[in-house]
Amino acid sequence: MTTVQITTREGSPLTIDAREGLSVMEIIRDAGVDELLALCGGCCSCATCHVHVAPEDLDRLEPMSTDEDDLLESSDNRVPTSRLSCQIRFVNALDGLRLTIAPEE
Ligand code: FES
Repeated sequence: MTTVQITTREGSPLTIDAREGLSVMEIIRDAGVDELLALCGGCCSCATCHVHVAPEDLDRLEPMSTDEDDLLESSDNRVPTSRLSCQIRFVNALDGLRLTIAPEE
C-alpha cells in the first residue's frame, strides 16, 4: 500500500493510505483529517487545502499551474514549498510524500 505522511497543525505525524488517481486533498479528507477544510471541493478557488510539502519532496511533484500559483499568492502562510493539495494528483511514484497542513488563514 502506498502512503502519504502528514503532519497536522498540532504537529502530530500521521501516515495515511493513498490511492492512485485521487488528489492529495481527497486522500487527506478521506482519512478523516478535518482541519483541511477544502471548501471548494477541489476546483482551485478557496486555498483551504493549503499544505507545505517537505523540501526534499518538492521536485517529485508536477509544477503548479498559474491558477494555483495565483491563489497561493493571496495566502499569508505561503512558503517556497507551498502547494494546494487538491491540485496534486497522487500517483504511486509519490509513495511516502511528506507534507504539513498549513496554518489556518
Ligand atoms: S480545495 Fe479549494 S483550492 Fe483546493
